[in-house]
Amino acid sequence: MAIVTTRQPEVRLIGRSAAIQALESEIDSASKSDAKVLITGETGVGKEVVSRLIHHRSARAAAGLVTLNCAGLPDSLLESELFGHVRGSFTGAYRDKPGLLEMAPNGTVFLDEVGEMSTRMQVVLLRFLESGEIQRVGADRSHTRVNVRLITATNRDLESQIASGAFREDLYFRLNVIRFAIPPLRERVEDVPLLVNHYVLQFSQTHKVPVTEITNEAMDALLAYRWPGNVRELKNVVERIVLKTCGRPVRVADLPPEILRAPGASALTSSATLASGTAAQAVDGSDPQAQSNARADELAGLMINQGQSFWAAVYPIFMSRDLTRTELRRIVQLGLESTNGNYRLLVELFNMSPQDYKRFLSFLRKHDCHLPFQRFRAVPARLQPATTPPVAKSS
Ligand SMILES: Nc1ncnc2c1ncn2[C@@H]1O[C@H](COP(=O)(O)OP(=O)(O)OP(=O)(O)O)[C@@H](O)[C@H]1O
Ligand SMILES: [Mg+2]
Repeated sequence: MAIVTTRQPEVRLIGRSAAIQALESEIDSASKSDAKVLITGETGVGKEVVSRLIHHRSARAAAGLVTLNCAGLPDSLLESELFGHVRGSFTGAYRDKPGLLEMAPNGTVFLDEVGEMSTRMQVVLLRFLESGEIQRVGADRSHTRVNVRLITATNRDLESQIASGAFREDLYFRLNVIRFAIPPLRERVEDVPLLVNHYVLQFSQTHKVPVTEITNEAMDALLAYRWPGNVRELKNVVERIVLKTCGRPVRVADLPPEILRAPGASALTSSATLASGTAAQAVDGSDPQAQSNARADELAGLMINQGQSFWAAVYPIFMSRDLTRTELRRIVQLGLESTNGNYRLLVELFNMSPQDYKRFLSFLRKHDCHLPFQRFRAVPARLQPATTPPVAKSS
């Protein structure tokens, strides 16, 4: 959940695009001050990398960096993680416990996915930013003051969240002092070969296989792909390729199906086998339905194959209306086919915590995307749980 780092892990930005060069110099100047930083950008673009670089290049580097992901944490837990609690403040609070803000004195606190905070937690955070005072959960007065630098990140569009009333404008102004807007990888394609070569070397060493060569055609397909999961997705794809090819040259046919489906890859796929007829139609863009299905498949793949959470990969783009109900239903359908209609396993498959079960179901119901589970029960389960949880009555 929360990570406290005091040593300096090796972290660097790979890329030679103008965007990466600009980021490097913005990081240098941000690290010279204590001003709050807000980092925005799609999932996997490197928001956490940037936050770490700012901390490690700053005068606070010798103190700790605390990282907390706000997504999927209920208010009570998030508040107690951040501010601590006093004994007896809730069931299970057997002793006083300091919060993370106290664990990095003179250091940096990185709050990831800040756009997921409830409006109540936004008020609590705002109160802290105004006073610098820590009030532990269950305490009737402030406990201490702390000196920390706050860096926040989100892949949500906070301006439109403000417009819809989901995010407080006064908090936004407090957080948005220095702004980093990291562009998606598809807008800086010149970084793709560098990243691919970097991860080929890295994973060849990790998995002790000979370094593989990427053929020009395969690299062209990687350049043409839109990388919805950005650098994280590229890293995972390269790891799979390295393991699959074991040192022999990588050809187009060795690439994952979602890359072969990319419109720009159509010219390169003559020697490759397309995953499905739907994909073939999506390639030439002639069938909007096929394109919509391919997009839903791509997002389901991000969660099922690449460990992305539903809250990060799907929820924000649905809320910002970049994903249709039909696409969301297809994603749910694909998941339920894998879990034999079991919604609890679906929560696991889409990389959410078990506590998110109710929230996920009410979200689906609210948007009319909750599919009846019965029709999936005849399909053999593809996902095998480590232990079989009881089948939920309401699933
Ligand atoms: N420019 C880059 N150079 C090297 N590695 C990068 C770069 N950008 C991202 N990465 C790597 O990609 C992965 C995802 O990066 P990171 O966790 O910083 O993304 P993020 O924007 O915080 O994503 P999310 O919104 O999903 O939390 C990490 O393994 C990170 O090391
Ligand atoms: Mg992150």
